[in-house]
Amino acid sequence: MVVDGMTIFDTAPRDRSSDENDHDAERVEREPARLAIRRPTVADGAAMWRVARDSGSLDLNSSYSYLLLATHFADTCRVATLDGDVVGFVSGYVLPADATRWFCWQVAVDERARGRRVAGRLLDAVIDDLPAVTSLATTVTVDNAASRSVFRRWADSRGATLTETDGFDAEHFPDGHEAEPLLVVDGVRR
Ligand SMILES: CC(C)(COP(=O)(O)OP(=O)(O)OC[C@H]1O[C@@H](n2cnc3c(N)ncnc32)[C@H](O)[C@@H]1OP(=O)(O)O)[C@@H](O)C(=O)NCCC(=O)NCCS
Repeated sequence: MVVDGMTIFDTAPRDRSSDENDHDAERVEREPARLAIRRPTVADGAAMWRVARDSGSLDLNSSYSYLLLATHFADTCRVATLDGDVVGFVSGYVLPADATRWFCWQVAVDERARGRRVAGRLLDAVIDDLPAVTSLATTVTVDNAASRSVFRRWADSRGATLTETDGFDAEHFPDGHEAEPLLVVDGVRR
């Protein structure tokens, strides 16, 4: 369902059946949490920074950089909200030298919203609105199993092919950062 530029999903409420006297639990049962995905605005930059900070595994960039993403790069980024609160985001840009490739910089989902394929829905939202884009590229460390599952499953869901090659080697980083192999998903239009 698309409402005012937002894609809205009804999502299953958390199981809080053991909490019978909790008014919140009753409310959640009557009104399932609504997940929405939309373009970010400047007001979302702080929440993107917070979600990245709390993700447990992302490199946290400066708060200023998330403001740039939420404004200058709003067309190529998306935020996910649950009942209005930002619970996830994907940041990226179209390669300056290749208008057919979108580079995914970061994707993160708050713990409370995980397990609903929110990351995949964020990727769908951004790619579906970029008709000239035919491939996605990203870098993911070897040990980031959740992220690798997200991109593999997303590629499958779009009938696309995922390949892995050298990206940024450990020697490229000045600070002991792990290597970031490059994942490329070709054929993302469905
Ligand atoms: C990666 C991330 C965005 C996925 O969130 P999500 O959309 O809620 O993902 P889901 O929980 O629906 O799971 C997606 C897939 O990852 C798998 N997965 C989730 N957590 C996992 C873990 N800790 N280890 C291995 N696989 C895991 C799930 O089984 C699922 O795979 P499947 O679809 O083949 O069953 C989220 O885990 C996160 O924010 N991680 C920290 C930030 C990060 O690492 N970002 C990516 C690098 S830019």
